[in-house]
Amino acid sequence: MKVAVLGAAGGIGQALALLLKTQLPAGSSLSLYDIAPVTPGVAVDLSHIPTAVKVEGFSGEDATPALHGADVVLISAGVARKPGMDRADLFNVNAGIVRNLIEQVASTAPKALIGVITNPVNTTVAIAAEVLKKAGVYDKDRLFGVSTLDVIRANTFVAELKGKSPTDIEVPVVGGHSGVTILPLLSQVKGVSFSEQEVADLTKRIQNAGTEVVEAKAGGGSATLSMGQAAARFGLSLIRALQGEANVVECAYVEGDGEYARFFSQPLLLGKNGIAERRPLGPLSTFEQQALDGMLETLKKDIAQGEAFVK
Ligand SMILES: NC(=O)c1ccc[n+]([C@@H]2O[C@H](COP(=O)([O-])OP(=O)(O)OC[C@H]3O[C@@H](n4cnc5c(N)ncnc54)[C@H](O)[C@@H]3O)[C@@H](O)[C@H]2O)c1
Repeated sequence: MKVAVLGAAGGIGQALALLLKTQLPAGSSLSLYDIAPVTPGVAVDLSHIPTAVKVEGFSGEDATPALHGADVVLISAGVARKPGMDRADLFNVNAGIVRNLIEQVASTAPKALIGVITNPVNTTVAIAAEVLKKAGVYDKDRLFGVSTLDVIRANTFVAELKGKSPTDIEVPVVGGHSGVTILPLLSQVKGVSFSEQEVADLTKRIQNAGTEVVEAKAGGGSATLSMGQAAARFGLSLIRALQGEANVVECAYVEGDGEYARFFSQPLLLGKNGIAERRPLGPLSTFEQQALDGMLETLKKDIAQGEAFVK
């Protein structure tokens, strides 16, 4: 299996590359690309870690040398949020970066499973879909917005509140990947129950957790280490499913049947061709149903902005 990380010299990219170097199955290869000239050095640095994962690094304007033969492409290239910016402020810079990189994926690794980390994910995934469509290679089972960070944050916060082990908690998080579009389905978490106030507070904390990090880093960027872990979890799940493992389920932001919006995070059964099955959201509490209804206008606007950017 070959995994390419685009944006590999950044805060997320380096954390992700380290986790993949230590956790990918033996015999895999890891291909790192970033516009920054340090990238081949990041690869040399990682190559000294004794695991049976080959690492190569590429820099400059051309991503294609990193993409040849890639099974999975994870994209974290772009600028990160600073205090006072919301994810929409990132749009102008990151939209062009994602378009450019996806054009190169379309020409070089059209069958790869693609995970888009670059924010604003609600919009950059729509851009990626339109670029792939234009190139004639779009397969909606192979394109994912990586929303796993919302899931791992939710797992952590619920475990903290309820005095449980975080590894025993799995919160499905659906909708989109910013502000009110992030909807943790707390009513479905097994083995715990919440008061109405706890649901309201936890939901808000999960939705604003990115801002918690941005403010705590005081101008030094947004989540990188937890995001690296989240992207590694998601990327490794894609790899396990590609290798034929059964019952690999992750929530991610994908094109579905359009019941709520063209793109929507939902639980997915992963398989050898990406998405094997889109799982229904399941029963929602009144609070969750209201939150879902309330987010759709925002989410659809975010998606339309991405579609319009490519047309
Ligand atoms: N999906 C999520 O949950 C989530 C969470 C946190 C951050 N993010 C997003 O991930 C992105 C990266 O964040 P970061 O903290 O790693 O930022 P960073 O600034 O540390 O790293 C970004 C990297 O992208 C590279 N880059 C910029 N333009 C490029 C191009 N055209 N081609 C290749 N590489 C290019 C830069 O050289 C840099 O190394 C941001 O857009 C951020 O908002 C997403």
